[in-house]
Amino acid sequence: MKGIILAGGRGTRLDPVTRAISKHLLPVYDKPMVYYPLTTLMLAGIREFLLISTPSHLPLYRDLLGDGRDWGIDIEYAEQSKPRGLAEAFIIGEEFIGSDSVALILGDNVLYGNQLVERLRSARNFESGGHIFSYRVDDPENYGVIEFDDDGDIENIVEKPENPPSNDAVIGLYFYDDDVVDIAKSLEPSGRGELEITGVNNAYLDRGALTVTRFGRGMAWLDMGTPEGLQQASNFIATVEKRQGVKIAAPEEVAWRSGWIDTDELMKLTEDLHREDYIAYLQRLPDVSEPGLD
Ligand code: G1P
Repeated sequence: MKGIILAGGRGTRLDPVTRAISKHLLPVYDKPMVYYPLTTLMLAGIREFLLISTPSHLPLYRDLLGDGRDWGIDIEYAEQSKPRGLAEAFIIGEEFIGSDSVALILGDNVLYGNQLVERLRSARNFESGGHIFSYRVDDPENYGVIEFDDDGDIENIVEKPENPPSNDAVIGLYFYDDDVVDIAKSLEPSGRGELEITGVNNAYLDRGALTVTRFGRGMAWLDMGTPEGLQQASNFIATVEKRQGVKIAAPEEVAWRSGWIDTDELMKLTEDLHREDYIAYLQRLPDVSEPGLD
């Protein structure tokens, strides 16, 4: 499975903060926002990435992440020149996807919780079709929302409905087979002129090929697209990190625990870092019996 990280858009909900900088580079407590979605896909076992952003912001991502080799992964880059919708990622990424399955994650989604790794890895084993993730929220009208039938199967997905059929919002993380490219190409732009990801999900649903993992209370799904959401996410990460003495979304750690880089390579990475606590944390990883990835 390959991974696409969508870090485009204008971030207008964070204006004027995002007037001169890409939203997904803003700090979420002690790391750039993009580290969180990137490590989520790494935790799912994905090692080949395409990062999509605007032409003006792409050089910043290249500076930050490079080609990924230091973390035992491979990162390519592609432009989305105008915000034409999330589903355009599959058209831009057609060559990158090839005949593989693909995970798309939105650059402003944070997922954290018990058994996340296990659930991501088991969802990754889906045979064909599409797999989505849902989470109960108090403001479903701001998201794609799932309508379930009496048997608990998905009946329909509606994008930002005025009268939400449930509180189950669709998380910005999607697993699809390679048909997704043709499906994305067949979509008509919505009322707001975008190729909607909800259109992709409903196309899989029409084929009877859409499954869902419903995350419960033990999981945090945070949306960092507004000043309040960004602050809440920063506070959440800081609270858990300080309390447990662990770092959330450190790509160096995920790469090392996944066996993609060895201990010597991990130690070498600390030479390029400048923050004492981050360096000390990575240096002590091999010596302590920390909890693993979950
Ligand atoms: C997008 C999707 C929506 C999904 C949400 C998750 O909304 O269109 O279906 O629930 O991401 O973050 P947007 O953030 O572009 O408004």
